[in-house]
Amino acid sequence: MAILEILTYPDERLKQESQPVENFDDELRAFLADLEETMLAGPGGVGIAAPQVGRFQRIVIVDCSRTRKPVPNHGRLFIINPEITAWDGMASGREGCMSVPDYTGNVIRAEKISLHYYDPDGNPQQLDAEGYEARAIQHEIDHLDGLLFLDRLVSRRNDLFRRKVYQ
Ligand code: NI
Repeated sequence: MAILEILTYPDERLKQESQPVENFDDELRAFLADLEETMLAGPGGVGIAAPQVGRFQRIVIVDCSRTRKPVPNHGRLFIINPEITAWDGMASGREGCMSVPDYTGNVIRAEKISLHYYDPDGNPQQLDAEGYEARAIQHEIDHLDGLLFLDRLVSRRNDLFRRKVYQ
């Protein structure tokens, strides 16, 4: 396993659209192990998307069981070729990103989503997510379409915050 290098804003590659996974094989699962290790090595990371490490395939990992305040969640999710099939409600909330290490921002997202995706063995899966987990999934799927939370701020002046660094 290996910790992979994270692309950071304003790297143009983060704007690239990712392609669907076609082969659910050992090479994919080895990559997922590296991506998972990279997420766990980051500061408080609840999610990561393959394009953040320069692999432009529709792969994300989300794990909202590691948040400081407990939130409803499905544990560690390996989500491949996701499609959001239903949205409900809208809420503003604070987001951070390993690719934007110096800032957080307030972004409006759906409060509840239904998701169709494939697991690492290529089996179709379905889940309903809400609140912070729904937000994390939407944030990670944005990476697959070349979008960062910076692209969704209503106002850079009012909704973007420099991160305080604690040593
Ligand atoms: Ni991100």
